[in-house]
Formats: sequence, C-alpha cells, structure tokens
Amino acid sequence: MQTMHEDVSQILYTEEEIQARVKEMGAQITADYEGKSLLIVSVLRGAAIFMADLVRAIDLPVEMDYMAVSSYGSGAKSSGVVQILKDTTSSMEGRHVIIAEDILDSGLTLEFLMETFAPRNLASIEVATLLRKDVTPQADIKCRYIGFECPNEFIVGYGLDYAEKYRNLPYIGVLKPEVYQ
Ligand code: IMP
Ligand code: MG
Repeated sequence: MQTMHEDVSQILYTEEEIQARVKEMGAQITADYEGKSLLIVSVLRGAAIFMADLVRAIDLPVEMDYMAVSSYGSGAKSSGVVQILKDTTSSMEGRHVIIAEDILDSGLTLEFLMETFAPRNLASIEVATLLRKDVTPQADIKCRYIGFECPNEFIVGYGLDYAEKYRNLPYIGVLKPEVYQ
C-alpha cells in the first residue's frame, strides 16, 4: 500500500521537536501578554494545526479566530496573488492580535494580511510563524515569534500541504520532488 510517509524524503522536525518548540513559543507569549486581552488569528487551512497546539501552550485567556486566504492554488509555487476567502468575525478594534502562520516563505501572504488589518485599529499586532524559510523575502515582515528557520525545500506535514494532502503528518518533512514535478 502506498503511504504518505513514502513521499517524504527526509524528516526535518519530529513530532516531539515540534511539540517542544511550540510549548516554548506559548510560554514566551504567556510572558509577553500577561494582563492583556489576546486574540489569535490563524490562517486557514495550514496554520490551524499549529494554532490548536499553540493556544494550549498559552496560559492566559485567549480568543481564536480564523482567516482564509488563497495564494498558492494547489501547486508548489507561489502565484503571488492573495485573496481573502474568509475574513475574521471577532471585533478587532483595540485588541492585541497575533497572526498564527504555518510558514513564512515569500512573505506576500503576511504582507497582505498586515495591510488588511492596518485600518482595523488594533492595540497591537504581531506574527507567530512556526517556520521561516531560508529565502530572500519579497516582503519585509517583522516576526516576533519564529519556531524554526527551515531550508528552502518544499515541505509538508503538521498543517502544511501539497494539493491539500499531507497536512495530517505529525512531523514536518521534505516532499520528494517526483511527487510534484
Ligand atoms: P508566502 O506568501 O510566500 O510567504 O507563503 C505562505 C504560504 O504558502 C503558507 O501559508 C503556506 O500555505 C504556503 N507554503 C509556502 N511554502 C510552503 C511549503 O514548503 N510547503 C507547503 N506550503 C507552503
Ligand atoms: Mg497551503
């Protein structure tokens, strides 16, 4: 039987490494947001898995909301075109917001989200990304919380997909090029 695991050439971060790092990020956020009303917005669909673990590592009252954007279609290359498919529904004015992203690649998605949130009169906005790819960014994004600096490979697992698959892998690994070429 063909399994998802066979399509992965190398495991970059094991389930245990991810859980340990997410706990550290949660502890850091807990220390930084003590006494503040925190709203975490995750970018569907990939970041939902990261956010689910991150909020449980934050020892403060936290609200959760979701945004969906499209930028990649089903392929492995950035189209650079970002569109809102679903907006947040919480009231945002005066809130301390953290955007939770799975991976920061070109930065175009986060740049678009920052521009979208700019006129919403937030008390503050920060970005928590599980991964930041080692690429020359096309947009200058200030990320307060970064889980791992990862190599410039097409990776899947722990929320990251290729054509909507592999999101449920508990680890993060490199997808074999022959799968998407
Ligand atoms: P950016 O706009 O180029 O920063 O891309 C951000 C989005 O692209 C992420 O939220 C992911 O959905 C997707 N993405 C970027 N690199 C990868 C990858 O290696 N594997 C899977 N998805 C990726
Ligand atoms: Mg994706």
